Amino acid sequence: MTAPVVVLVGPPGSGKSTVGRLVAERLGVAFRDTDADIEELAGKPIPEIFIDEGEPHFRDLEVRAVRAAAEEHTGVLALGGGAVMAGATREALAPLPVVFLEVPLADAVKRVGLDAPRPLLAVNPRARWRELMDARRPLYLEVANAVVDTQGRTPEQVADAVLEAL
Ligand code: S3P
Repeated sequence: MTAPVVVLVGPPGSGKSTVGRLVAERLGVAFRDTDADIEELAGKPIPEIFIDEGEPHFRDLEVRAVRAAAEEHTGVLALGGGAVMAGATREALAPLPVVFLEVPLADAVKRVGLDAPRPLLAVNPRARWRELMDARRPLYLEVANAVVDTQGRTPEQVADAVLEAL
């Protein structure tokens, strides 16, 4: 059976993509990001999927992308921050090694908004982030085999901690 060596979950701004690339580099395996897979499936960027088809359609694509990557990918896999909301995604993650990247709001706000736009954080990003985190934290903990605290750590240090957790 093929399976990802590790799946990274956590809220927007927790550094899943940056850390995931570093971990993949150190292990000499490929990095895959389900947000990128969804954009490829839809043929457009995530903000446009939200605008044109709405969040439920995005979430359907996300479940498909996670299931496919969980079956096919043998490297490091990063999921979008909301992926754990779907029961089907949590089921697909159950047999896999999952690491939850924990991040406080203050650190996350330094990162979110600096790169790809996130439709769910377009208005009141701090309050929204906190709301989303409150709702999702129990789900991150449910799917995770390990929790890595990213506070005050560089991406390289977080990558080390992820490797230690494996
Ligand atoms: C989302 C997070 C984004 C992306 C989409 C929805 C969310 O991924 O999947 O905008 O619901 O939190 P990141 O966690 O990589 O920002």
